[in-house]
Amino acid sequence: MLSILNLAIFGLSLSTATILQNGQPRPSNYPDTRIDPNASSFRTYPADAPEISYKGRWDSKHVSWWSAPGIKFGYTGQTVAISFGHLTSPGVLIAYRIGGLDWTFTNVTARGTHLLVSADTPGSSLTTPINPWTFEMRVTNWAYGVQIDSIHVAAGEKLVKLPDFGRRIEVIGDSLAAGMYTSYEGLSSWAYGLGAGLGDTEYSITAYPGICAADQDCWGNPRGQVHQWFYTSDTSYRASVAYGDNPEPWDFSKRPAADIVVINIGTNDQNAANNVSTTVYIDALTKIIQGVHGKWPKAHVIVMSLWLGFYQSGNSYFPGASQGFVNEVCQMCKWFNSDDYLRNQTIYDGVTKKISRASGRPEPFVHYFNTSGIMQHNDIGPQWHPTDVGAIKVASHLQQFIRITFGWDLLATGPEVFHDTLYWNDQSGY
Ligand SMILES: *[C@@H]1O[C@H](CO)[C@@H](O)[C@H](O)[C@H]1NC(C)=O
Ligand SMILES: *[C@@H]1O[C@H](CO)[C@@H](O)[C@H](O)[C@H]1NC(C)=O
Ligand SMILES: *[C@@H]1O[C@H](CO)[C@@H](O)[C@H](O)[C@H]1NC(C)=O
Ligand SMILES: *[C@@H]1O[C@H](CO)[C@@H](O)[C@H](O)[C@H]1NC(C)=O
Ligand SMILES: *[C@@H]1O[C@H](CO)[C@@H](O)[C@H](O)[C@H]1NC(C)=O
Repeated sequence: MLSILNLAIFGLSLSTATILQNGQPRPSNYPDTRIDPNASSFRTYPADAPEISYKGRWDSKHVSWWSAPGIKFGYTGQTVAISFGHLTSPGVLIAYRIGGLDWTFTNVTARGTHLLVSADTPGSSLTTPINPWTFEMRVTNWAYGVQIDSIHVAAGEKLVKLPDFGRRIEVIGDSLAAGMYTSYEGLSSWAYGLGAGLGDTEYSITAYPGICAADQDCWGNPRGQVHQWFYTSDTSYRASVAYGDNPEPWDFSKRPAADIVVINIGTNDQNAANNVSTTVYIDALTKIIQGVHGKWPKAHVIVMSLWLGFYQSGNSYFPGASQGFVNEVCQMCKWFNSDDYLRNQTIYDGVTKKISRASGRPEPFVHYFNTSGIMQHNDIGPQWHPTDVGAIKVASHLQQFIRITFGWDLLATGPEVFHDTLYWNDQSGY
């Protein structure tokens, strides 16, 4: 959801902004990790080395898009450095870590080489653990991206290809999923918390602030998800500079199919400023689901109900009067699971705009996730987005829904998921 005020953000998309938490500037003096690559003796791997696993959407030039994209690999030795290409956004904040230890952060720069793991990095010199060491990096902000130029380890050491986890989640959404206004943005979003929090799960977050389901301009995003989900890049200003009107279609054969696709889209469609009718919205959402069904015939789809903030009335708070297309979305979910759809099962291919018939009779695959009652009024910040706590609640409830509905065990039993959420009271005596 976006107010007119937030519109400015899209115009500014490539300048570094101060991030406020509770009205105070968030500390952003992250350690400077830049080094002179010529002063070190490295073994260097190009961006397309098969040992590097890319997470989320990256284009053919190894530029990252959408929310919380990342890379992961195993390595030997105690050194990992990354050289970033010229298409890297200025000062973009990345998070990185060894294994499941806490995330650390640094701002990186186009054409810079950054030393991210050395003997001093937390966990680097432990002697008993996971072999090989795993390194993971994520881009925190949805408007920014990095380009991987090359990866370096110490001379005589090597990168190790890590197998992918066996479970996959895709989240399709807008600012609410992208992590707008949470502390670490994508890395504090409920979408990331869902994927990382389930553990042993690959996740990709195809979400961008302001975007509608309907294929039209919403808050400066030129296209809607019914179109853009089929493409590698998002609807940012950065993407318009990189591609103009010719983005790379996403090559769905690059990765295994998602098992579960979580969709939270429509908050911008229901905003009167964008003038999307209910019919146009439902048609777009239907086509997104038909698109998912066409690309990944066995995927289950979870459609989340929208939440639109709270208002005070008398001595308590209540959800906003319009909760956003509730009846129509419920009806659409029922239609997908009815014989009408299941016998016919039409699928949509957003790139060529074809509606065609799939083969075989699928089982019902569309599930409705009722978000009502998960967040309370103070879980939504002044800019109408979940706070860090709100995001954690949404992620946790979704995890349980997925565990109960699909029998997925919760496999993250200790690694850090949400960073900087350790608030506690250690006053034992009064
Ligand atoms: C490293 O060496 C290359 C080739 O000699 C040179 O082009 C580059 O500017 C050097 N980089 C730095 C950071 O000094
Ligand atoms: C580092 O990134 C944060 C978050 O985007 C930003 O607020 C800060 O200005 C950046 N710092 C530098 C030195 O680029
Ligand atoms: C909103 O959409 C309707 C129907 O498509 C159109 O007639 C009207 O001019 C639009 N209004 C604005 C402000 O774009
Ligand atoms: C079957 O799909 C076609 C589009 O290919 C559509 O026109 C028709 O209404 C569908 N039939 C049913 C019963 O849904
Ligand atoms: C969602 O849950 C709330 C609270 O239990 C309930 O009042 C509402 O009817 C539910 N909505 C739907 C569409 O099932």
